[in-house]
Amino acid sequence: MSSSPSGTVPQTAVGDESQSAHAVKTRIHRYFEDTTKDYLKYYGTRKHHHMHYGFDRNLPKGASPTGNMTRYLAKLAGLPSAYSTGSEGLRPARVLDAGCGMGGSSILLARESGAWCVGINLVELHAHIATAFANADAAKWGTPAETPRAVRPAPSDIVGSPARFVANDYTTPAFKPESFDVIWALESFCYAPDKEAWIRGMAPLLKPGGRLVIADGFSGRAPVNAAEARTFDLFLKGWAVPHFCSFEDMKTWATRAGLEVAHIEDITADVLPHAWKIFRLGPLIVPWRLLLRTLGLVGEEKLHNAWAIYHQYPTLKKGIWRYGAFCFQKPGKAA
Ligand SMILES: C[S@@+](CC[C@H](N)C(=O)[O-])C[C@H]1O[C@@H](n2cnc3c(N)ncnc32)[C@H](O)[C@@H]1O
Repeated sequence: MSSSPSGTVPQTAVGDESQSAHAVKTRIHRYFEDTTKDYLKYYGTRKHHHMHYGFDRNLPKGASPTGNMTRYLAKLAGLPSAYSTGSEGLRPARVLDAGCGMGGSSILLARESGAWCVGINLVELHAHIATAFANADAAKWGTPAETPRAVRPAPSDIVGSPARFVANDYTTPAFKPESFDVIWALESFCYAPDKEAWIRGMAPLLKPGGRLVIADGFSGRAPVNAAEARTFDLFLKGWAVPHFCSFEDMKTWATRAGLEVAHIEDITADVLPHAWKIFRLGPLIVPWRLLLRTLGLVGEEKLHNAWAIYHQYPTLKKGIWRYGAFCFQKPGKAA
């Protein structure tokens, strides 16, 4: 168990079996297996392939807020300019998309930044769906459905910028040290049972000069009463998130892992409009799921998920949690 330097939110209560790595991963599996169809159908993931919040700052008219989030973080990661192909003749960036969901980030980064992405996921189904989306995207955009080999040299004759996806637990990543220019964790870090260990495990995989980009929910102010504490718990439980850590924890843990702080930003205000859109489904979905659950037609996860949809917005607005964007850099010069 990691310590919590801020002292505000302990990562794991001693003896709390529900927070053991095994229990956390079992819940994550169950949650995503139960809700993947809903993401595809109701969240627009079939279209944009993302499973994260949108980012409304400077959102071009008609553009996708979820794509806007990815593009904003791509800039923090130094993509495409830092490593990309192009007139400078630099090699493509190697990106590890840790907790890749259904591939939205990798597919976009491959297409728009010329990056070579490998997405890893605990849930095999997500890796399969992401592969299908990447192949369809490659066919549509005229790039080959060729798969990058993140740990091997890129064949020089491949045109375009592919993305490939495999089932791999990000707490035991199957890659050699210094394999990646960018490690990317968009709303996947919150699922790490031990968040300091996660950062410690990722740091060696970065090349010198490489960047670790994380965007996710983090702990905010403490709930002021039992009702607030309960709604916050229902929110975390409904999305199978074991716990949040604080901004201060992140800084401390990244530094301990030998990384330098390049960027820390609270982007709650940019995420709130999208959180509100998700929240608006709550008053419809909660009674409906309650009814279905009472009739025994859906599992408990579906009902919990409905409560999370409902509670995520007020708890974010009240500051009980915050949305953060982080970029940490490994010392040294990018080769
Ligand atoms: C909310 S989704 C975000 C997906 C994607 N990053 C996006 O932005 O669309 C969280 C993802 O993290 C994955 N995940 C959670 N724990 C993981 C682990 N231990 N190893 C790999 N992936 C994990 C989940 O399976 C899920 O696909």
